Amino acid sequence: MASTAKLTYNGKELELPVVEGSEGEIAVDISKLRPQSGLTTLDPGYANTGSCQSTITFINGEKGILRYRGYPIEEIAEKSSFLEVAYLLIYGVLPKKKELAAFVDNITHHTMLHENVKSFFGGFRRDAHPMAIASAVVGALATFYPEHISPAAGEGEKAKEAASLLVAKFPTIGAYSYKHSIGQPYVYPDNSLDYASNFLHMMFATPCEEYKVDPTAAKALDLLLILHADHEQNCSTSTVRVVGSSDANLFASVSAGVSALWGPLHGGANQAVIEMLGKIIASGDSGKKFLENCKDKKSNIRLMGFGHRVYKNFDPRATILKKTASEVLKKLKKTNPLLDVAMELEEIALKDSYFVERKLYPNVDFYSGIIYQALEIPTQMFTVLFAIGRLPGWIAQWMEMRQDPKRRIARPRQVYTGETKRPYVPISAR
Ligand code: SDX
Repeated sequence: MASTAKLTYNGKELELPVVEGSEGEIAVDISKLRPQSGLTTLDPGYANTGSCQSTITFINGEKGILRYRGYPIEEIAEKSSFLEVAYLLIYGVLPKKKELAAFVDNITHHTMLHENVKSFFGGFRRDAHPMAIASAVVGALATFYPEHISPAAGEGEKAKEAASLLVAKFPTIGAYSYKHSIGQPYVYPDNSLDYASNFLHMMFATPCEEYKVDPTAAKALDLLLILHADHEQNCSTSTVRVVGSSDANLFASVSAGVSALWGPLHGGANQAVIEMLGKIIASGDSGKKFLENCKDKKSNIRLMGFGHRVYKNFDPRATILKKTASEVLKKLKKTNPLLDVAMELEEIALKDSYFVERKLYPNVDFYSGIIYQALEIPTQMFTVLFAIGRLPGWIAQWMEMRQDPKRRIARPRQVYTGETKRPYVPISAR
């Protein structure tokens, strides 16, 4: 493999270094392009641009491969737990028994929110979207931990402390936003419960009666969190890196990531899929007519939960979630007509040249909502669950960026296409 790439422009030849990753990915390093040639690159959506070198997550979109720190997602999903995955992503190694126990204990004993935080929720309307609440409250957490605001707090023990505080408190923030929306009292965390069970407890327990977490539901939720934990340089993770690159604190960076994830083209797709499937059922359509509309550009309709910037094959998470959806519904003795429609849509789409030519396959959001529904999670909370799962990935990527000795503030260039120089026109002459 050549170690340089040649660029010829305007009679000048430039040799640019080529970087090769541990999985054979190659990239042209253009960090010296502008000073050496006056050229910049243009790549809307950064589809062809790498922002960093990373050791955290590997995706091979052509082969449908996803690995966290080298471990295949299929094995992680079957054998690990969410907090063990959080440790792996943040610290780079699978924890020994004692290390995991200490990590879990630390998270468990920091799940409560400062009592003042509760008053934030009262300031929101009942119908406030929980992603807006999550972004606001996570950002405001920085005011409770002023020792975590300085740039120096972005490294070492302080950074690890902020990481644990966020992983511990995010589910409480999510559950409180749900309780606020239904006018029920907030339920404090229960330290006797595991991470996923505690979230379900805070969501559904009430002071009026005993609430027992169904172990099937807790296990399914833990799996969902694992599958969402990291996904290399996606939109929200890139946002967390960009915000953190200005030396902004971890709370501010994650708050921005929550907002980026909310978009229906990204993490908001899980809510959009359920709304889409519900509309198809309500219209009495089997899905065939809907898919025809998706293929008509003028309709502006997309098959939500399908397609991916990187995967041009099955998203391995979707494969696991499709199987899990049927299993969880069976174990919880529930049915969901949305699952039947989803499977029907997948079957038709994967035989349709429009989707096949564009290599559009189900992504992580296509089946996840059906499982969230089986757990009785309200639709508006789906993307909050995605964020709770993605949090360790955001943190790990932010830490990796902050620890990079060569890091620089993120500041892309542009190609200006506006008006050239012209004199100001006084209002009297306009
Ligand atoms: C996530 O990046 C990540 O890793 C994200 C994520 C993570 O874990 O962080 O995996 C999570 O965000 C998953 C994606 C969830 N979003 C959706 O399900 C929304 C529906 N899908 C899309 O809008 C779209 O596929 C994207 C946003 C996911 C990817 O967009 P791209 O890479 O910019 O692709 P594109 O919009 O340029 O589409 C290429 C072609 C277009 O047709 P042509 O112009 O070539 O004729 O495919 C078509 C698109 O119109 N297309 C679709 C489609 N997705 C793409 N047509 C119908 N339905 C769709 N879902």
